Amino acid sequence: MIKVEGLTRTYGAFTAVDDVSFECQPGRVTGFLGPNGAGKTTTMRIMVGLTPPSRGSVTIGGHRYADIPNPGRHVGVLLDASAQHGGRTGREILTLGARTMGLPMSRVDEMLELVSLTPAESKRRLRNYSLGMKQRLGIAHALLGDPSVLILDEPANGLDPAGIRWMRGLLKGYADRGGAVLLSSHLLHEVELIADEMILIGNGRIVAQGDKQTLLREEKPSSLVTSLDNGRLGEALTQAGFGVSRAGEGLRVECPPVEVGRVALQAGVVLVDLRTGSRGLEDLFLQLTADTQREQAPGAQPAPPTQPMQPVQNQGAAR
Ligand SMILES: Nc1ncnc2c1ncn2[C@@H]1O[C@H](COP(=O)(O)OP(=O)(O)O)[C@@H](O)[C@H]1O
Ligand SMILES: [Mg+2]
Repeated sequence: MIKVEGLTRTYGAFTAVDDVSFECQPGRVTGFLGPNGAGKTTTMRIMVGLTPPSRGSVTIGGHRYADIPNPGRHVGVLLDASAQHGGRTGREILTLGARTMGLPMSRVDEMLELVSLTPAESKRRLRNYSLGMKQRLGIAHALLGDPSVLILDEPANGLDPAGIRWMRGLLKGYADRGGAVLLSSHLLHEVELIADEMILIGNGRIVAQGDKQTLLREEKPSSLVTSLDNGRLGEALTQAGFGVSRAGEGLRVECPPVEVGRVALQAGVVLVDLRTGSRGLEDLFLQLTADTQREQAPGAQPAPPTQPMQPVQNQGAAR
């Protein structure tokens, strides 16, 4: 439905979007994730013709956005919820949209109801809207023409927790009816619950893409283990070539649990607890975008002084 190929945008010597390619399929929510300044908004602006690309191309349903007649009937866009005339009321903004797209006026009330803006709120001027209300209005505006593609830039910003949940339901339902959704966010948790596909961007480049399971496979395996003799087990694991560090009552080991089990069996150490040490998508996200985060990812921080392995003898049993 959306096809982005080799998209690049430079500003002088600075490359904001660097050779970005991806696709969005109908019936799926695609999350576009990256830290502030990663290039999400620039990519989306290029998709809808607001910023010209330096190189590359975007097609939506096989057409360039600029070539789509009455684009609001095909592509719903929400880039900046404040980018409307502040002196107009919410109702006026939707009415203008409906007129422009040649829609019946009943659509305006339908959309206001859909995004839970009350009749009183719809008569207030946009400049007096909270950010969350602007986002709701923006979503209503994007859906007005009953499009088959939605492009939303950080739509959850400013929404309260109930609003975020509502939006998730709305977008999921929209995708279930066959729509294609591209949704950007700098917050992983917002996206990982609804996105079928995820595209991770950092410093203008795509660092990973795929569904959740595929992405998690890129994470290095690790295990958390507690035994009756953590000191001996730690030594044996180190000898076997695995990275070992202390974690709470036990050890974190840089290998899958099955390897820990094998080493423990050979060393004759009784295990009390053994599980995967996978820290999930958030760690992967921080790891992959580490050099583009303003704050360093946990793994990149100077490690706290690690305790030597030997004095941990029989720690588990002693308690
Ligand atoms: N018109 C512009 N001129 C110069 N730099 C820009 C312009 N637009 C965006 N940038 C830069 O491009 C980078 C990506 O910005 P943006 O796409 O807004 O990131 P995101 O939406 O992921 O937070 C930022 O470093 C930003 O400062
Ligand atoms: Mg942005």
